[in-house]
Amino acid sequence: MKDNTIVTHTGNHPYDNHGIVNPPVYHASTVLTRTYEAFLDRSNAKVRYGRRGTPTTFALEEAMTALERAHGTVIAPSGLAAITMTLSALTEAGDHILITDNTYAPTRNFSNKILKKFGVEAEFYDPAIGADVAGLIRDNTRLIWTESPGSQTFEVQDIPAIVQAAHARDVIVVMDNTWSGGYFYKPLDHGVDISIQAATKYIVGHSDVMMGTIACNEKTYAKVQDSAGSFGLCAGPDDVYLALRGLRTIGVRMDRHNDNGLKMAKWLESHPEVIKVMHPGLPGSAGHELWKRDFTGASGLFGFVLKDPSRARLSALLDTLKFYGMGASWGGYESLLLPNSPAGNRTATTWEPGGQTMRIHVGLEDIDDLIADLSAGLDRYSAA
Ligand SMILES: Cc1ncc(COP(=O)(O)O)c(C=O)c1O
Repeated sequence: MKDNTIVTHTGNHPYDNHGIVNPPVYHASTVLTRTYEAFLDRSNAKVRYGRRGTPTTFALEEAMTALERAHGTVIAPSGLAAITMTLSALTEAGDHILITDNTYAPTRNFSNKILKKFGVEAEFYDPAIGADVAGLIRDNTRLIWTESPGSQTFEVQDIPAIVQAAHARDVIVVMDNTWSGGYFYKPLDHGVDISIQAATKYIVGHSDVMMGTIACNEKTYAKVQDSAGSFGLCAGPDDVYLALRGLRTIGVRMDRHNDNGLKMAKWLESHPEVIKVMHPGLPGSAGHELWKRDFTGASGLFGFVLKDPSRARLSALLDTLKFYGMGASWGGYESLLLPNSPAGNRTATTWEPGGQTMRIHVGLEDIDDLIADLSAGLDRYSAA
């Protein structure tokens, strides 16, 4: 099955459910066993306790496993929970891990604060390192964390080269695949062991649910599932249902994000107030050649840098935009525009673009309306 068929037909079994198209929402904590024999054998039951998942959870797991071409998926109550559950599952005291320097800031914080407390050392590396990551691998290196493109500065990583170096030393590779929604990039096809997503973004797609997914290969699934189960974290059934419902339309949404995003990036590239645009789909952008080689499209999230910023100029731009919200969580159907400061979240590399870094999420609106609104905003920026 191709992706659009997978997201339409996987994870629902209508003829096991009275012909009803969507799986039911099971609200459950207690799960009863009918007999004493079944009670003794309860650890082998698929449905055994609400926290361990219900048929609603299993439906989302099944669909995400198919989309990510994984062996199995663990559902987490947020994207960050997916990150922390994965990092905790795969590391122990004395281990060293490598994390890309452009990673989502809370991944860095968790590693520097919580993992450190448990004796795990995190080292940050240049996202453009490629095969040279081999030089950073130590005897106690357990895991390499990748995020491509990074969700602030949008460098694309050479994932196959990193995987080759890692697997030569028996090191696990994890990728934060939130940007592609699992639709434009298949980490496990490129040798990555685990693809995590903040399903909060494109899987849910409607800015109304927190959710994470951990899609694992055969080598890692049991370990992650076992460890994640020990944390007692689980997603609520209505949220799981909404994530499944969002997933059904991810293909059409991502294709529109791709088209709108590229049109916006090209328009911004020629704007006199813009120093540079960080969109992997633009020739000349960092990682464009890798993106062309490995990805099948681009989502709606990218960056650009504005000339000569000031508080007054940014207020003039942002305060009266009609169609862009200023919010951190992206991947919904609507557009967002946000000034950000990636420099403070880097230690192995620097970010000095010579102006104000902006992050835009180009939503599903009509692109002409979006460009007209931003154009008026940038006129105000120029005038202020
Ligand atoms: C790249 C990336 N990964 C993970 C997360 C965390 O997801 P959540 O907000 O669902 O915890 C985010 C959220 O912004 C993100 O941008």
